[in-house]
Amino acid sequence: ELSPIDRAKFVAARRAADFVEDGMRVGLGTGSTAAWLVRCLGEMVRDHGLRIKGVPTSARTAELARDMGINVISLDEARWLDLTIDGADEFDDELNLIKGGGGALLQEKIVATASDQMIVIADAAKEVEHLGAFPLPCEVIPFGWRTTQALIEETLVAMDVMGRASSLRMNGDKPYITDEGNYIVDLHLNRIGNARQLAMVLNQMPGVVENGLFIDICDVVVIGHSDGRVELRD
Ligand code: A5P
Repeated sequence: ELSPIDRAKFVAARRAADFVEDGMRVGLGTGSTAAWLVRCLGEMVRDHGLRIKGVPTSARTAELARDMGINVISLDEARWLDLTIDGADEFDDELNLIKGGGGALLQEKIVATASDQMIVIADAAKEVEHLGAFPLPCEVIPFGWRTTQALIEETLVAMDVMGRASSLRMNGDKPYITDEGNYIVDLHLNRIGNARQLAMVLNQMPGVVENGLFIDICDVVVIGHSDGRVELRD
């Protein structure tokens, strides 16, 4: 028996799986919602003979996809993808996103950008009027991370978007390390006036590898509700 939140994630994932067709190269997202999608696709491969090539966005997803019997290839083998299906931490009515709560934003953004279409699967609680209540993940190079963090804070305070201080993501008493060997600084923002501009400003900074704002990347959001209803936004 699924909890209400898992039921919402599951019904969104199952509906999004309908977009996957035989022979497609599919980007496989990361996180608890995307895990449901990988399980659905695994079942379609196993029980219905669906043939797909899956490009995972994290080591975690790669392992789950292999366990589910999905044919896993690298992005370099695939080069481009028909479709990516992934979760999100927030989405707004323009289908812009905050991602990276699960720490996989860098590979997720590369894979989604390489795809003809990106579909986000989310429970209804992820929908927001304005992005930014969820701390914005920013992947930084470990070298000089304190300096990079200070530069981010100084710049964002000057832009009037910074709320309280940012925080280095931890894993117990050590910094959290991404699949690419980097750190994540979570930015606690007041409000994001201009998400496009903020994304560009962050990515201009030395030491910043990528940020969790996905602007003009997502094409469809599949919203799952705990009562089993599903809505599509595009
Ligand atoms: C992973 O890095 C994230 O971008 C996830 O897609 C996001 O955090 C959503 O995760 P859940 O589906 O677990 O809420």
